[in-house]
Amino acid sequence: MTMNDMTRFDRDEAARAILARNDRGGYTVPTDRLYPFQWNWDSAFVAIGFALFDADRAYRELERLVEGQWDDGMIPHIVFHAPSDTYFPGPEVWGTRHRIPTSGITQPPVFGMALRQVHEAAVKAGLPQAQERTSALFQAALRSHRWWLRARDPDSLGLVAILHPWESGSDNSPAWDVALARVPTTTTTTIRRKDTGHVDAAMRPRDEDYQRFIHLVDTYRDCGWDPQRQWAAAPFKIADVQMTAILARATADLMHLAETFGSAEERTELSDIHRRLLDGLARRWRPELSRFVSLDLISGEDVDAPTQACFMPLVALRLDDVQRKAVTAEIERWHQGLIVGLPTTPSFSPAFEPKRYWRGPVWAVVNWLIADGLRLNGAEDLARRIEQGTVGAIERAGFCEYFDPTTGEGLGGDAFSWTAAAYMVLRRRAGSSGAGAEAP
Ligand code: GLC
Repeated sequence: MTMNDMTRFDRDEAARAILARNDRGGYTVPTDRLYPFQWNWDSAFVAIGFALFDADRAYRELERLVEGQWDDGMIPHIVFHAPSDTYFPGPEVWGTRHRIPTSGITQPPVFGMALRQVHEAAVKAGLPQAQERTSALFQAALRSHRWWLRARDPDSLGLVAILHPWESGSDNSPAWDVALARVPTTTTTTIRRKDTGHVDAAMRPRDEDYQRFIHLVDTYRDCGWDPQRQWAAAPFKIADVQMTAILARATADLMHLAETFGSAEERTELSDIHRRLLDGLARRWRPELSRFVSLDLISGEDVDAPTQACFMPLVALRLDDVQRKAVTAEIERWHQGLIVGLPTTPSFSPAFEPKRYWRGPVWAVVNWLIADGLRLNGAEDLARRIEQGTVGAIERAGFCEYFDPTTGEGLGGDAFSWTAAAYMVLRRRAGSSGAGAEAP
């Protein structure tokens, strides 16, 4: 039976079956072999998916991620709970010193957003121990937000910086091209890529990207993973609007939880963080481009490559009328002529490659966040069309890692956990049928 022959109910079952199949004992791998460990933001999205039908399992996903949290508060991008030889770079390359092997960099802090939703689902389901579990995870999230501000915004710009493209979650986005070109291709680690053994190399980052990615890992490992030494040594440092927006939004969700789980000081601390991030984001609006732009902290220049990150501030900021009209018109323009949107790089950009990872393809979790931000900003119709388009793409092509916007073809790894979670969540949010829906 293909996805097309299934009823909605069957497809929901198929999505749950993917989460069950990728379960490795309370945590979910993104997909077998290509990504065989626990990834930070993947798990947060997956927890929101689990919260729809199993709040206990949703908590477990977050609790297992927190097992990897460092003493300084950072939640790493990968937790290597169990060995696997199908991924590079493994724990021996990172050389970190946590109790459980982890990578040494982080990923977008969707965690706080997930925690609020998991908590609300658990309370609704009457799950025993919901208060205790939320309370412990709230403290973990708070420590991680403090780490973000301390380690990644030491100059109080109100913007947090990434020191490695992998931290952004959009590994080879054109947003990094100019800054990454300054990073040497020399490495002390021998590169043994495994990804191109699982997926067509034409869809993956290039070898030269990998050399630079590993050069950065070598550099930070040589700093003993000390945040201050890394900040000083970093040859790649971008104050990223996508990361900052997600952190700001997660902070708002923690502020909500803090009404029950926080002290008076923690509530004040969170609202100070929130204000600082919103102010920082607001300064990155460029009316002539109809979007927000990141800041290259090494060159001091705006990152003007158009990518999905430019719209991510919608998840945190309330736009004024002029901004809202400009952003929605721009998002509509990015959809023109495509089978499915939103492309991570628009087709009018010279960097557009419809099949190569973060250089054009559509990712369900990106659409999840952008639609959420549009809805928050009163653009309900466009939000719904993006959700319906995503649901339709998954129903036609399966629970793939990402989709070619020009054909709708499913690409990358298959049986992907966060695509399954996105399907369950977006189908409910989109309301009416997504099947056959056109791009907005
Ligand atoms: C890739 C993606 C990243 C994701 C990971 C696991 O590295 O770029 O966003 O978290 O795969 O799915």
